[in-house]
Amino acid sequence: MKLRTFILISISSFALFALTVKFSWALDYPMSEEAVAGKEVWQRYNCVSCHTLFGNGGYVGGDLTHITAERTPDYLMTLFNNPPVLPPHQKETHTSLTEKETLAMIAYFEYLNTIPTLGWPPQPKELKGGDVR
Ligand code: HEC
Repeated sequence: MKLRTFILISISSFALFALTVKFSWALDYPMSEEAVAGKEVWQRYNCVSCHTLFGNGGYVGGDLTHITAERTPDYLMTLFNNPPVLPPHQKETHTSLTEKETLAMIAYFEYLNTIPTLGWPPQPKELKGGDVR
């Protein structure tokens, strides 16, 4: 390869790289700050010890990847504000959250629900968290 061709290819490759970086920064970050805060709440309270997201986690309380498709924000507000006692022994109360934490949690769940999972994870009816109210 001639030196001139080599230099030309190098310069155009670098220009392409620089343009890609510049325009990808301008793209919208699809996760809102509130949804990120919700993920922090999820981690802080270790919800994953009892619940799964995308099928990964604990099998006590059911998968929550698409919970906002099944439950209304009002239902979730009431659940965390006035948590029910948990089956099967009714000795432990569900984790409670402040209003701010709950709103962040809902934003996180809404974000998760936008991720296409092609029906994953399958949830046998008897393993799914039933009506807690
Ligand atoms: C000690 C285990 C445990 C922990 C920790 C826990 N949960 Fe639960 N959760 C459950 C159980 C069990 C149920 C379902 C009870 C039932 O089906 O009667 C439930 C129900 C729910 C529901 C309602 C599901 C539905 O279909 O109505 C939501 C939403 C939920 N949990 C979110 C969370 C979040 C968010 C956290 C962390 C802040 C959390 N849970 C922490 C055990 C837990």
